[in-house]
Amino acid sequence: SAAEKGGYDYFMLKEIAEQPRAVADTLLGRVAVDGTLTLDEMRLAPEELRDINKIVIIACGTSYHAGLIAKYAIEHWCRIPCEVEVASEFRYRDPILDRQTMVIAISQSGESMDTLMAVRYAREQRARVLAICNVNGSTIPRESDGVLYTHAGPEVGVAATKTFLTQLIACYLVGLYLAQVRNLKFGDEVNAVIEQLSGMPEQVERVLSMMEPMRDLARSLSGANTVLFLGRHVGYPVAMEGALKLKELAYMHAEAFAAGELKHGSIALIEEGVPVVVVVPSREGRSVLHDKIVSNIQEIRARGARTIVIAEEGDEKVRPYADTLIEIPAVPTLLQPIVATVPMQVFASELALAKGNDVDQPRNLAKSVTVE
Ligand code: G6P
Repeated sequence: SAAEKGGYDYFMLKEIAEQPRAVADTLLGRVAVDGTLTLDEMRLAPEELRDINKIVIIACGTSYHAGLIAKYAIEHWCRIPCEVEVASEFRYRDPILDRQTMVIAISQSGESMDTLMAVRYAREQRARVLAICNVNGSTIPRESDGVLYTHAGPEVGVAATKTFLTQLIACYLVGLYLAQVRNLKFGDEVNAVIEQLSGMPEQVERVLSMMEPMRDLARSLSGANTVLFLGRHVGYPVAMEGALKLKELAYMHAEAFAAGELKHGSIALIEEGVPVVVVVPSREGRSVLHDKIVSNIQEIRARGARTIVIAEEGDEKVRPYADTLIEIPAVPTLLQPIVATVPMQVFASELALAKGNDVDQPRNLAKSVTVE
């Protein structure tokens, strides 16, 4: 009913708007004022966590993209090798697991059969399994050694939005907690990130208030045949999520590339008028990557691409090459996906609506897929 949708035409639009609250609720009670993280509910003892020498993240769909982002953060903060794999591939290739492996299964529903089967397999191999899940008491957390719940509230739209942002928060919390229990010293970096994480609900609120240009643009692109997405570093999985959302909701061909791979093949796809959405890395810390992506944007534009550039506010270097500039708040590099994903959600949902699609119930898809 209209009341359940809180004045929005679709649950998905309501759920996109609820993200500041979902992110805040997922942080709530887990970060003390002094920066200490409390994640006792994970039911994994600090001694066990200190023993881990490898992390394997398994998930499907949008949850897989959260895992890809988590890898950048976890390896950087914890110096533990981290692999990410789609759950449906995992148990069929004889993966290497033992007691010192921590498997993180990310599933908003807690019921995806592919992920559940991967969890069972990992436990048979004696790995320790931590679930990141949004549904209390669902199957995957019940069958795991520990669980960290996201507190996004019920998500009705089939395409994941607020559950994704809260999965990112949960992944960051796990990475920072591991760094804490393993007593890793990175100057103040880990502590600084913990503090910045607390500011994320506000940043998501801000990015939502900056989305009008993205809506206008999306409506103008409903006739496009394909949309390409480029990113690098954590912006690459964000680009993948942008492409997936467009396929799911607008039924359009969309593909994401690592911007550095462009020259190795995909640049051949660029022709007059092809829309290309580019996620520009934050300027903080990784300015080399920033410069590289600016030259990628120049290259594709010179070949006729219509550039749709998602960049930090005040990024003057990129402005001259952006046919459309979509600004997002400046946040630390590793946390940028929290704000950079929002324009992707808005773009896909608006374009889908312009085509007359039902964004809550896209054709052929289900909220949780309980068959392998
Ligand atoms: C389905 C949904 C996707 C979701 C995927 C994984 O295919 O349509 O939106 O990302 O399942 O779901 P999970 O519940 O395991 O996160």
